[in-house]
Amino acid sequence: MTAIGIHDLSLATAHHVVDLGDLATAADVDPAKYRVGLGQDRFSLPSADEDIVTMGASAALPILERHGRDGIRTVFFATESGIDQSKSGGMFAHGLLGLDPRARVVEIKQACYGATAALQAAVALVARAPGERALVIASDVARYDLDSPGEPTQGAGAVAMLVTADPALVEIEPVSGLNAADVDDFWRPNDRTTAVVDGGLSMKAYLDALTGAWDDFRARGGAPIDEIDRFCAHQPFTKMARKALARLARHTGADLDDAMQEATFAYNREIGNAYTASIYAGLAALLDGDADLAGRRIGFFSYGSGAIGEFFTGVVRPGYADHLRPGAVAAELEAREPISLADYRALHAAVSPSDEDSETPRVTRAPFRFAGLRGRARQYERTETR
Ligand code: HMG
Repeated sequence: MTAIGIHDLSLATAHHVVDLGDLATAADVDPAKYRVGLGQDRFSLPSADEDIVTMGASAALPILERHGRDGIRTVFFATESGIDQSKSGGMFAHGLLGLDPRARVVEIKQACYGATAALQAAVALVARAPGERALVIASDVARYDLDSPGEPTQGAGAVAMLVTADPALVEIEPVSGLNAADVDDFWRPNDRTTAVVDGGLSMKAYLDALTGAWDDFRARGGAPIDEIDRFCAHQPFTKMARKALARLARHTGADLDDAMQEATFAYNREIGNAYTASIYAGLAALLDGDADLAGRRIGFFSYGSGAIGEFFTGVVRPGYADHLRPGAVAAELEAREPISLADYRALHAAVSPSDEDSETPRVTRAPFRFAGLRGRARQYERTETR
């Protein structure tokens, strides 16, 4: 059977960065609570002229520059921070990226799980027509109320993946385990720009979905635990993935060490929760940070509140390292501009769902920017800077 999976993957994040040490000090919290207790160092914050579309298109651009646009007949745009109730974020990205008009373009939403649904659907479409390629874009901005327990777990980022036959990076294996349960652990009503969350319930729902998805994965013939070499989980904050691996160890009776997933944390510690992009930011960090992956099987646990869990596996392809972009994410993180807490709070408060015509200030250095509203429609443009 032809291998299908991730041929290329690229990450983009936002213009600003908030230091959690500063946030802790201002809130009179021990900084170790965020650094060690949550496992987070900083979070990315979009400027006024950035959003899920600009980040998503910026993540996809290097993939198209390397592999061209031919044969991309599907664009899945996964997000839970959608910018329109009707039009897909993917339509804006499709236009900005100059993709072929002969394409299906849709937005997929199920909290942080959407990108995995998109990836699996892309794999299935390419299996049916192996000459086609599919572009999966996962892009999110995680926003919680100021001064709430969720505040230090905010973040922003996008990961784009090109799904093809005979992929260069990771073959996605056919078996996956699923667990769906209607839970009110986290959601965002239409009139809110920040999430409503029951933190304790959300962690329980995440861990319950993990064991449920694992049991289904095994029942359907998925690899036994001792044939899984690395673990890459959704990381709302990196400590959550440590809790996940510990739960899986207890559940299976296997001795699972955090060394299996340590390399997946590097980017999420910096970006914060990028919701549906978070697990794939973990994969990007693993591919960049672990030199011994060829032929290794990665166990993925994708979780989206509300709540879906999916456990699936991928095998890293021989020669994968020749197809990475060494230093690209480090440069992206390094380029972020630190923002004072006062300016961060002002920017946070300024995000409102207004549909009045407006122009945004020019701030971002990303390849695309959100220019504002004209005739109540969102306007995007290519920037001159890159
Ligand atoms: P909190 O009130 O800060 O929790 O909220 P806490 O007081 O329990 O402290 C957190 C950790 O810091 C604990 O570690 C403390 O012990 C530790 P644990 O015991 O759990 O291992 N701690 C310290 N460590 C070192 N030095 C210290 C110190 N003090 C305390 N001095 C909570 C935490 C996660 C609930 C909050 O941030 C929140 O509500 N976050 C948003 C919800 C969330 O991320 N849930 C995760 C699962 S749901 C999910 O992943 C889906 C999601 O991504 C969205 C989607 O799917 O759409 C959120």
